Amino acid sequence: MASARRAGSIQEDGLAEGLAGGTAVVTGAAGGIGLGIARAAADAGMSLVIADIAADRLAAVEKEFRDRGIDVLAIVTNTADAASVERMAAQAIERFGAPRLLVNNAGVEMMGDIWELPAEQWQRIIDINVLGPVHGVRAFAPAMIAAGTPSYIANITSIGGLGMSGGQAPYIVSKHALLSFTECLYLELAEAAPHIKVSAVLPGPVATRIFTDAVALTEKAHIAQAHDQMEAVLAQGMSGDDAGRKIVDQIVEGRFWISPHPEMMEGAAQSRAAYLAGLHTPAQRVRPSYQSK
Ligand SMILES: NC(=O)c1ccc[n+]([C@@H]2O[C@H](COP(=O)([O-])OP(=O)(O)OC[C@H]3O[C@@H](n4cnc5c(N)ncnc54)[C@H](O)[C@@H]3O)[C@@H](O)[C@H]2O)c1
Repeated sequence: MASARRAGSIQEDGLAEGLAGGTAVVTGAAGGIGLGIARAAADAGMSLVIADIAADRLAAVEKEFRDRGIDVLAIVTNTADAASVERMAAQAIERFGAPRLLVNNAGVEMMGDIWELPAEQWQRIIDINVLGPVHGVRAFAPAMIAAGTPSYIANITSIGGLGMSGGQAPYIVSKHALLSFTECLYLELAEAAPHIKVSAVLPGPVATRIFTDAVALTEKAHIAQAHDQMEAVLAQGMSGDDAGRKIVDQIVEGRFWISPHPEMMEGAAQSRAAYLAGLHTPAQRVRPSYQSK
């Protein structure tokens, strides 16, 4: 199993990378990619702190891990709320000490024309998708820095964080911002605490409920059509468990750029670079970041 390969090996930069015996904190862990990451971390021998806003689904996932004999702490958390994340972190650190792995994964989708989505929906997606990871880092980084143990922070952005797409501007904006935050975090921790490796995770399509749960102004035909298209693309995507395993494998390699769909990420990065280098005008393409598949 992959965990046996990972445990105890040393990276070329000298960072000990065995995760076994450490604790993983995963937000949005009650389903989808977050659950896949939590399962992969448990397979690698880690204790778990799983946090999600969906209490019922979180309780079911907690039971799954308990039944497997995993040391797990499930905490209902709203990552948009700094105080909620700080409470979760205090409980997690009291129980397990500083985590070896923090994955800021919780995120939501939103579809609609820019001028028609209400201000509170714009606020909500920025609060969850951008400030949620900021709150996670603020809550856990001081303990991780003080611990001095080789450890990892990974933020789940998206291949959409390298692209553009009319119809889901709030999501795209949030994922660009999260990528930018993660780049700055890398720089700051490389100076202040080089024992903490930072990764930006850019998944392509993974079969999850994110579009089913999305806010979408589907009374507009073009939004309804784009929503249905995206839901269909994701339904054909990789499973959350496969994505979670690939993500954890790449995190422990100490990489910054991570994706369960590496070729798609490279294609999107090259398109973005060419677009910026040429100072091209934004061009609407259907699912731009998914065309390189
Ligand atoms: N599925 C994909 O194709 C895809 C592609 C690129 C990036 N992503 C990103 O992956 C991450 C996980 O998404 P997913 O596809 O697994 O979706 P998902 O909807 O299956 O899982 C997201 C989880 O986050 C939880 N959540 C939502 N708001 C929350 C909040 N305020 N506080 C705490 N938990 C909250 C949900 O309850 C859910 O369990 C997201 O950041 C998403 O943007 C997904």
